[in-house]
Amino acid sequence: MERDVKDILISEQEIKQICKRLGEEITRDYKGKNLLVVSVLKGAVIFMADLLREIKCDCIIDFIAVSSYSGTKTTGVVKFKKDLDIDPDGMDILIVEDILDSGVTLSYLSKVLMGRNANSIKICTLLDKPANRKADIKADYVGTVVPDEFIIGYGLDYNEKYRNLPYIGILDSSVYEN
Ligand code: IMP
Ligand code: MG
Repeated sequence: MERDVKDILISEQEIKQICKRLGEEITRDYKGKNLLVVSVLKGAVIFMADLLREIKCDCIIDFIAVSSYSGTKTTGVVKFKKDLDIDPDGMDILIVEDILDSGVTLSYLSKVLMGRNANSIKICTLLDKPANRKADIKADYVGTVVPDEFIIGYGLDYNEKYRNLPYIGILDSSVYEN
């Protein structure tokens, strides 16, 4: 498995620091609000688990599932696979994503959730890959910016593999080029 990783981009230690910083910012901004943290399955699940433990104000959580990827390419069509269980009416929604790439997924999700009478909607993404942006969307909280490479580990997959790597790395192109 490790042979397929071209480079380690973000170490376990660096990920920890990022979660701590984002948790502090979110705690400060959401004190006294009705925070509903929504994680986008499956890629954001590991980040969500670590980030939540750095959020020190009251919150409730839920999960949503969409997909737009096949291999290393986005299909551009977002499919809704699982909706919220909680009614977000009056809640302050924070969407937690693994990576903001073309932005198609998050702009679709924001639009869907905006129609549900939430008090506010913001986005927290661990990784921001601005090189491929197609939709006009920005995250409110960003862990770090990554280069235009295919990223794996810490929840991010290539054809469902590598999600269990504890660090974030670049997938070696030999894995998908032949
Ligand atoms: P977007 O709609 O293009 O912004 O893509 C968002 C989703 O595509 C993310 O939530 C990821 O699940 C997936 N994705 C985008 N770039 C990568 C990558 O480099 N590695 C793994 N998954 C990615
Ligand atoms: Mg995702």
